[in-house]
Formats: sequence, structure tokens, C-alpha cells
Amino acid sequence: MMKSSGLGIAITGSGSAVPETAFDNQGLTQLVETSDEWIATRTGIKERRVAGINESLTSLGTQAAKEAIAMAEITAADIDLIILTTSTPDDLFGSAARIQAELGATKAAAFDMTAACSGFIFGLVTASQFIRTGVYQNILLVSADILSRWVDWSDRRTCILFGDGAGAVVLQANQSDRLLGFEIRSDGTQNDCLNLPFQGEPQTLIPGVEISQGTYRPMTMKGQEVYRFAVQKVPEVIEKALHRAEVAVDKIDWLVMHQANQRILDAVAQRLKVAPEKVISNLAKYGNTSAASIPIAIDEAVRAGKIQPGDTIATAGFGAGLSWGAAIFQWGR
Ligand code: COA
Repeated sequence: MMKSSGLGIAITGSGSAVPETAFDNQGLTQLVETSDEWIATRTGIKERRVAGINESLTSLGTQAAKEAIAMAEITAADIDLIILTTSTPDDLFGSAARIQAELGATKAAAFDMTAACSGFIFGLVTASQFIRTGVYQNILLVSADILSRWVDWSDRRTCILFGDGAGAVVLQANQSDRLLGFEIRSDGTQNDCLNLPFQGEPQTLIPGVEISQGTYRPMTMKGQEVYRFAVQKVPEVIEKALHRAEVAVDKIDWLVMHQANQRILDAVAQRLKVAPEKVISNLAKYGNTSAASIPIAIDEAVRAGKIQPGDTIATAGFGAGLSWGAAIFQWGR
């Protein structure tokens, strides 16, 4: 039985970029009351990268994109569409078009989309629809976040978790279909678990016309609720995507989850009975880079020769929204 109707999709290139400055747990002890030991045992994180004044979402995203385009052996001029998944654009009107300009991808339409830490999965699924329908052949998906701009650096419950970075993949129309299955989900009733909210002050323009102006407030999080949500929902959604893909869990070569907390990765792998050596983790080096974490982890594993062409990869993202999702694919053409 055909698993999907429509044209085939392959993921043919990956790239990643992280800021130059590493900020380790010891450094954090100068900001908040914490310890390397507390952070490492509760999260697996040892250090994270933080973007400096000369780095931007556009610059990191562009660097990751260039690597992905080179690996896919296409040129920027071949790209039909650029999707940037981010919660932290350089410009609220969007940063995808800036990346398009930096790359010289003149033919490509470009837009931003937001699905927080699920951004890569939601972006992959969105991009794949344009290929399935035959509209586009070459799509660049960039997933990047600079949460250091928005973290409350005096809140030890959140600031220890996050880091900055960018990842990218190239999706191409392909004779064989390598995107085997996916499932994406949202639950807005739990929206208050993880927020980076706009907060405005009332301002009267003329009598009778009142607006609200302000800015975004630092991130707030209900850590234990998010933890419980992830450990429950992520195995379920991976199982659903595997079912759609008609892939048995023991046929997965690599499990690449959103890098939020090592304990979440371990608990999900245990629940699914996936061997620890198949679980890719780079949390120790980068912390939670939001939308970027899955493509950075994939790119590092591809470049290290771990992920090989034809390997079956289960990916899963989860985060604010709340949102969560999984996609199963084979690497390469
Ligand atoms: N350093 C030292 N102590 C800290 C601390 C820190 N950075 N952060 C919190 N604590 C303290 C708390 O104040 C609390 O102290 P108390 O018992 O005296 O009140 C204690 O440690 C336990 O706090 P708790 O919040 O119960 O810890 P936890 O085991 O739930 O771990 C998280 C906290 C944030 C690591 C964990 O809940 C988590 O990872 N949640 C998921 C978050 C996530 O992944 N978010 C992003 C999703 S995309």
C-alpha cells in the first residue's frame, strides 16, 4: 500500500551555526544562585552559546543555510521557497527575506513561521506539502532562535536551560519518497505553561481611541508541567508517526528529539524502548536552542558520519503552544 499520495520528498543537505561565545554553568553561578552540579544533573547541560552584538538571527541562519545548500549540491538560485521557523526574528515583520537576500536566492519566496521549539517539525511538514503537490522542487528550511534576547537572566528556573543557534535542511522533490510519516499536534488550553508575551500599556491617542503599546516580556515557564507534558506526549506522537510511516520502532536508526533536557530524552527513549546509543544528544554543549536544536543535532551527526544515507530517523519536537510533533524520514536521496 502506498503510504502517501503525491510526489516524493528527500532531505538532501543540512547545516548549522552557533554563536562564538560559550557560556558555561560555572559562569551562570555569577548571575544566579545555582551550581554546575545542579544544572548538569537536572538537565544534562554544561554550557550554551550566546549571540553577541555582531551576531544576529539572520547571520546565524544564513551560515547554516549555506552549509545545507552546499551539502545538497544545489545553488541558492535553485531554491523555490525559504521557510524560517523562529520565535525570535531580528524583525517582527520577518527575517526569512533577509536570509533570502544574503543567500542571493532570488527566485525564492520567503516567509517566517512560529511554532516555538516544535518549529523544525512543523516547518518540515509545511515545506513538504509544497513538494507533495508538485508546486516546488527545492525548499530551504531554516530553524533558528536567539532566546538569550528574551530569557530572564535573573530567573534561575529558566535562564540555565536555553542557548542560541541555527540549523537548516534542504528538502527536494525526489523519485523515492523519504518522508515516511508525520504527526503534529497543539493544545492551546495549556498555553500558559510557556510564554514570551507582549505586554502593553494603555495609551490614549485621541479621546475614545485607546491602544496598547509596549514590548515582549521575558519568558515565563511552568517547568514541571512542561516536563510532564513532554514525557507523556512525545512518545505518543512518535508512535503515531511511526504507525503512519509503517515503521516498527526497532527499525529506527536514530532518535533525534528536541534538545530540552537529558532526562526528557532518556525517559522518552526508555518508554519507546529505543537503545540509548541511538539517541542523539548535544545538550551538554548547547542547551535548549529552541527551533534550532533538532537540525543542529542532525547536522552534527551527519558530519560526524553517524547518520548515513538511507538511515531511518525519528525526529520529535515539543514546546510552547503547547505544540508537539514527530516526523519519520530516511536520510538523503
Ligand atoms: N539552581 C539551583 N536550584 C534551582 C534551580 C537552579 N538553576 N532552579 C530551580 N532550583 C530549585 C528550586 O527553587 C527548587 O527548590 P525548593 O525545593 O527549595 O523550592 C528545587 O530546585 C527544585 O525545583 P524544581 O522546579 O522542582 O526542579 P525540577 O526537578 O522540576 O527541574 C527543570 C527544573 C526546569 C530542570 C525541569 O522542570 C524541566 O526541565 N522542565 C522542562 C522544561 C523545558 O524543557 N522547557 C522547555 C521546553 S521546550
